[in-house]
Amino acid sequence: MNQKLQDWVDEVAKLTTPDEIVWCDGSQEEYDRLVAAMVAKKELSRLNEEHYPNCVLARSDPNDVARVEHLTFICCDKEEDAGPTNNWMSPSEAETRVKPLYEGCMKGRALYVVPYVMGPLGSPISQVGVEITDSPYVVINMRIMTRMGRAALDQLGDDGDFVKGLHSIGDLSPERRYILHFPQRREIWSIGSGYGGNALLGKKCFALRIASTMARDEGWLAEHMLILGLESPQGEVSYMAAAFPSACGKTNLAMLLPPESQEGWKVWTVGDDIAWMKFGEDGRLYAINPEYGFFGVAPGTSYKTNHNAMESLRKNSIFTNVALTDDGLPWWEGMSEPPSHAIDWRGNDWTPDSDTPAAHPNSRFTAPAGQCPGISPEWENPQGVPISAFIFGGRRAKTAPLVFQSFDWNHGVYVGAAVASETTAAAQGQAVGKIRRDPYAMLPFCGYNMGDYFAHWLEIGKRSDAVPKIFHVNWFRTDDNGKFIWPGFGENVRVLRWILDRCKGNAEARETPIGYVPAGGSLDLRGLEDEVDDAVLAELLRVEAEDWKAELENQKEFFEKFGDHTPDEIWKQHAATAERFAKQN
Ligand code: GTP
Ligand code: SPV
Ligand code: MN
Repeated sequence: MNQKLQDWVDEVAKLTTPDEIVWCDGSQEEYDRLVAAMVAKKELSRLNEEHYPNCVLARSDPNDVARVEHLTFICCDKEEDAGPTNNWMSPSEAETRVKPLYEGCMKGRALYVVPYVMGPLGSPISQVGVEITDSPYVVINMRIMTRMGRAALDQLGDDGDFVKGLHSIGDLSPERRYILHFPQRREIWSIGSGYGGNALLGKKCFALRIASTMARDEGWLAEHMLILGLESPQGEVSYMAAAFPSACGKTNLAMLLPPESQEGWKVWTVGDDIAWMKFGEDGRLYAINPEYGFFGVAPGTSYKTNHNAMESLRKNSIFTNVALTDDGLPWWEGMSEPPSHAIDWRGNDWTPDSDTPAAHPNSRFTAPAGQCPGISPEWENPQGVPISAFIFGGRRAKTAPLVFQSFDWNHGVYVGAAVASETTAAAQGQAVGKIRRDPYAMLPFCGYNMGDYFAHWLEIGKRSDAVPKIFHVNWFRTDDNGKFIWPGFGENVRVLRWILDRCKGNAEARETPIGYVPAGGSLDLRGLEDEVDDAVLAELLRVEAEDWKAELENQKEFFEKFGDHTPDEIWKQHAATAERFAKQN
């Protein structure tokens, strides 16, 4: 028995006064028991057993449907260490303002102790966490999303260290909702929400906010990135990691199914949301997926857009805030033809004539990663997979071309720092569709001063000659009617192939002030000629000086916020970009 764990559980139980303490073993029996109890209390409903075996539907409180960035805090000693893009609360204020909310908060409920491993068991890159929660919904999700229970206690051992996560749904009031991170003592306090990244503490709280500070201190990377393997017709597999902001296409790219015209190419899924990376002895960065399941955006997911996601969620899955058809099937916008009647995510009657969506725009499925037909044979390799390319991207109706390659590592670090994207429904309390700067897709997830994070990335590049090449993509460019001009989804494999060719020095490129874009003919568009003719391609690859003038001005305002923390190199790259535009005219 790990004494540090026992002492912490005792301490928390004294504070929260639960009726009972349940040590979770992660077994199927335990899962089934929790599900049955929640079904009996009408906190979950079972879906059609024939079509969706062992699947359940959960409806969250309507005010608790996404991450809450405005209620998320970094609690380090100095405000400057949290930086201008994080909310900061001093550790002493956390004691007086937030700790009292936990007093007696589990009265009448059970306290669940959830030990879990982030990453393949026994991997040198993996880490152990323990979440204490009073939400059985969290426990069943954690069992899908992490390697949970006995295996984690084994990996922890008698005196191993672990990241502490204390979670209570509290009274679900947004007034008493806080997501706090203590990077120095590697601890998380979450209260007042039962949803996603607010409550499944292994995910954004540990694997990104706490892990990014560990990674800075120890010289590795914790990133909001999918990991995929691109297999050529010759059977060679190259790995890439891509960072796009929330609800901007990571799960879709990670599970990409190439169209028929791209015969012989295959994409293997290693991870769809988070990557932890360390240097191997060969100087390359090796990535693991710390997660064990997918917590994927439901709306827009269909057999047409993401076949492998649909296959992954057919059994043993949890659906949160989707609609329920009269046949007991889950349904969401974009999945298939709308049913003539359904129960919407709030539990109300819904028909296609209703004014509101049937599924919440941030409704999600929780599905075991091992059920994905395209799951990589390497996804549990404890050593990780070697990364050849980093890809950054976002939703940009204008400005950013379909794809470009950075000139070198330092330029690529600047390109990552300059990512911007239209906001989505993945975070509550902000307008959707507004451009915001989102460096590395980490704006809501970096556990320390983002200026120092840019410096950390620059340092990583100094450590090896074998670091990945860095690219930027944009699937979301629109025409004047707001329609996407790139077909996206499976067709994105064409862009991945160009990226791979560039890594191998095989594809032609045209130099622009922002980087290299595909030269005529180097992007394989066979079979797409109708949809993407020469005019559309020109628009997709257009780098418009006027747009970039505004873009560079906006970047400048953003980088200024970090004061001395913005590395000189970032300013140098920014100035060099402006100069290249000036020279062009
Ligand atoms: P998080 O789980 O929040 O981190 O999101 P994610 O980055 O994994 O996003 P996901 O792949 O779930 O996609 C979010 C939305 O973008 C879905 O509605 C998709 O249908 C849509 N989407 C994904 N890829 C593309 C694409 O290539 N083109 C277009 N037009 N839409 C896409
Ligand atoms: C995201 O918002 O980037 C997600 C979903 O992946 S959550 O787990 O809620 O963070
Ligand atoms: Mn995410």
